[in-house]
Amino acid sequence: MIAPPAKDALIIAVDGPAASGKGTIAQALAVLYRLPSLDTGLLYRAVGVLTQRRTGALEPADAEWVARSLNPGALGDPNLRTREAGELASRVAAIPKVRSALLEFQRAFAVQPGGAVLDGRDIGTVIAPDARAKLFVTARPEIRAERRWRQLGAQGERVSIETVLEDIRVRDQRDSGRSAAPLVRAEDAVLLDTSEMSIDEAVDAARRIVETARLSSDSQPRG
Ligand code: CDP
Repeated sequence: MIAPPAKDALIIAVDGPAASGKGTIAQALAVLYRLPSLDTGLLYRAVGVLTQRRTGALEPADAEWVARSLNPGALGDPNLRTREAGELASRVAAIPKVRSALLEFQRAFAVQPGGAVLDGRDIGTVIAPDARAKLFVTARPEIRAERRWRQLGAQGERVSIETVLEDIRVRDQRDSGRSAAPLVRAEDAVLLDTSEMSIDEAVDAARRIVETARLSSDSQPRG
């Protein structure tokens, strides 16, 4: 059992679809508020990549075993940022036993003293439903495809923008349609559409959302 968050802890949940800008925003908020941050997508990417590498397939029982024995040290592997890793991640993320194997690590990260920033798909709904600030970051699919295409290009992956857009559509559908912790905006999450925003504008908008959430939670009795 994991203890609930301390009353003054600042837990920030940042959810949203692929390449919406949530990772960049989460990292910037972590620096601004001096909080530890966890990109939870990396956990699923690591499980997908390691399962495929070790067994040549993505059998649910194997993926669950990999998730249970996952070493957080594996999260720094640059291979986790590839297009293929994103696809493998989204496939293992639909396996309920993989999700439950990763649950405790994420919850423990969220409730550390002082707080934390986590980004993913189910942070505000499942991992940290008591988070003080919840953001749901989105952008139009064409914009997200262009951002991801640039990112992949910078990593040396040559792929057409049309292929990236198709990947994003498939992933959106799989992430939103699965029965285990689907991608959905928590009722109390603030929607942030970054389609027309620069990185600085998006980070600034996110900071204002967090400030508003902090002020309103300070004026309400909690716990
Ligand atoms: O950066 P991008 O949004 O493309 O991917 P990511 O955040 O690294 O997540 C990769 C995949 O992991 C997603 O498509 C989801 O299927 C899954 N995921 C999840 O199910 N729950 C999370 N909390 C984070 C990621």
